[in-house]
Amino acid sequence: MKKVGVAILGLGVVGGGTCKILMNRRETIKEEYGVDVEIAAVLDLRPERVTALGLDLSILAKSIDEICENPNVDIVVECMGGLEPAKTFLTKALEAGKSIVTSNKEMFAKSWPDLERAAQKTGAGLYYEATTGGGMPIIRTMTTAMQANNILEIKAIINGTTNYILTRMTNENADYQAVLKDAQALGYAEANPVADVEGYDSSYKLSILSSLAFNKRLPVDLIFREGITKITAEDIKIGKELGYIVKLLAIAKQKDGKIEARVHPVFLPQDHPLSSVSNSFNAVFVVGDAVGDIMIYGRGAGDLPTGSAIVSDIVYCARQVEHARYSEMFNEMTKDDIISDFESAYYVRMTVHDAPGVLADVTTVLKKYNISISQIKQDKKDDIIPIIFVTRKTTENAMNKAIDEIKALKNIINVENVIRVEE
Ligand code: HSE
Repeated sequence: MKKVGVAILGLGVVGGGTCKILMNRRETIKEEYGVDVEIAAVLDLRPERVTALGLDLSILAKSIDEICENPNVDIVVECMGGLEPAKTFLTKALEAGKSIVTSNKEMFAKSWPDLERAAQKTGAGLYYEATTGGGMPIIRTMTTAMQANNILEIKAIINGTTNYILTRMTNENADYQAVLKDAQALGYAEANPVADVEGYDSSYKLSILSSLAFNKRLPVDLIFREGITKITAEDIKIGKELGYIVKLLAIAKQKDGKIEARVHPVFLPQDHPLSSVSNSFNAVFVVGDAVGDIMIYGRGAGDLPTGSAIVSDIVYCARQVEHARYSEMFNEMTKDDIISDFESAYYVRMTVHDAPGVLADVTTVLKKYNISISQIKQDKKDDIIPIIFVTRKTTENAMNKAIDEIKALKNIINVENVIRVEE
């Protein structure tokens, strides 16, 4: 039987979950997949974590170099997070001929070509299922099950923290700050929530998915990004009345040889399959020209779900005769490949003085930019009133210019919020 030694870097939540699964399923994996996966080494600053996981302290390595020199280690599994020293450690492992498995989305999205270059020197493999969507097998779906397709579109909820916050805001009619505080207390959001709530985390994952889908690397900084911090309970309530639910979506589309890539909150129709993805769950909706629509749903984080993706990578890696190569990642998209002036419909909420002609002034501006209204709503009959409208599809530039002009109109108190609507 093939024996495979793994070294696990970082015994936090994900590393711990991976160890638990590897130990519990060792015999089953032997029987079902013909490989005996042994935890041959671990690297962590806390010896007590090693013993708490039921591992023998003798496998605690002192350095990455010791792991690279260990002939019993075939695969190095990185669960440390952060850019460094993760990237340096994995580069060393690849140069020593060890295949790598990582759950580190930021590092992987930013360093994929460098890691591939290191891997090509020795023929070692790169495995990264756990970087995107935690336990959902979306990477292997894209790499091994979509060969018949030209991928036309990806729409994804790939950040559990923001999905949890938006779900609670929706269900409880609560404001962002209150729910964030509670989410932090419950461990659903980090003390520093910026990476999640400002959409960075989703953009790393979208970069990985889009690079695979479109066979060319999409650098993170070419992705349009806006977070959820400006979403209010008021917008969510009005959205519901209009038939929408708010989600932070990661969207990539292929159009006329160019790519549109963006992460931002959207209003989705309540009957869209992604609208029912609640709490901390993730889902990826992919449109292929042959298969049509597919959707994968599951837990995007957590010890065992992420450990599930990592163990799947380990077993998959161990059974490969030759590892997949990603030379296409040396070819990067540039600004010229990207549609920055993308098309969308828009929800706009304004407060205005209830004066004759105010609506006519607004629609005159919209007409100037060829923007058509599909729904309009005016709620109260006070002196200061909210006006809400939803446009038909227009371009981002046209909408931004129209909003700037609307803000300057007499009797417009404020444009309170603008939310893109994805049909
Ligand atoms: N912070 C991430 C999330 C963890 O909320 O989805 C998984 O990448």
